[in-house]
Amino acid sequence: MPRVQTKPFQNKVAFISGGSRGIGLAVAEKLAQEGAHIVFTYLRSRADAQDAERLLAQLGSRVLSIRANMGNEEQIQKVFETIRNEFGALDILIHNAATGDLKPAIELSGEEWNRTLQINLNSLLLSARLSSNLMRDHNGKIVSISSHGSQRCLPNYAAVGVAKAGIECLSRYLAVELAPQGINVNVVMAGTTETQSLKKIPRHEEMLHHARTKTPVGRIGHPEDIANIVVFLCREESRWIVGQTIVADGGYSLLV
Ligand SMILES: NC(=O)c1ccc[n+]([C@@H]2O[C@H](COP(=O)([O-])OP(=O)(O)OC[C@H]3O[C@@H](n4cnc5c(N)ncnc54)[C@H](OP(=O)(O)O)[C@@H]3O)[C@@H](O)[C@H]2O)c1
Repeated sequence: MPRVQTKPFQNKVAFISGGSRGIGLAVAEKLAQEGAHIVFTYLRSRADAQDAERLLAQLGSRVLSIRANMGNEEQIQKVFETIRNEFGALDILIHNAATGDLKPAIELSGEEWNRTLQINLNSLLLSARLSSNLMRDHNGKIVSISSHGSQRCLPNYAAVGVAKAGIECLSRYLAVELAPQGINVNVVMAGTTETQSLKKIPRHEEMLHHARTKTPVGRIGHPEDIANIVVFLCREESRWIVGQTIVADGGYSLLV
């Protein structure tokens, strides 16, 4: 009898915060190609979310997009209620959405500081708590996206950098605390990656030129480069990597 080949994420449910474009969409696409059903959030662009929904649905997945601000606890709670009602369970959480106030630390108002930490860091704690209640079969995966700003001082990046450092540290605690429940937690630290978010950075052309010339492989990253590592961390084969931050930057950080 020929064996029926099933895809690795067949019938698994993945939630990606900020899945309508960029790295989040690339992760959603790869998970969907391998059989996962996809729930993703977005904030500003319904048009991007609709395009993403169409693209993912063509891959045969069930897709649900939800407009929700990851900086708002009530809205996050509602997202997870929807996942429970629509799918009954969750297997993969990708903590990806990011927005922040880009200013020198000393110029940040208390409101800007709190908002940036709320969107980027506090949302991981709440999402992990709500996910862990929905994860089943001792097989959950939580993967977050960090950046070099967690360790290095990038111009105007203090609030986001601190949030990213918090994501990496919190992920280590979550990894230890959730391992007995079979939930595996890790982080991918992405180098400069070609997405729309770069356009928000002042003097981004200069920054791109620097990144290109200082990256040993001779280019900056594509969203797929990061998605490949994220999806690897969602696979059963990566179970022995626990609480780690994996650097994916084409070798950039080895030289600068
Ligand atoms: N690109 C890089 O060079 C780079 C480098 C290192 C790390 N990273 C990290 O990689 C992740 C993805 O970055 P990206 O470059 O792919 O970003 P992007 O292209 O700007 O996409 C961001 C996504 O997040 C959504 N989003 C933003 N704020 C949100 C909020 N408050 N609530 C819900 N959704 C929200 C956006 O939806 P709307 O468009 O509808 O607002 C969009 O889907 C981030 O964590 C970023 O820090 C990126």
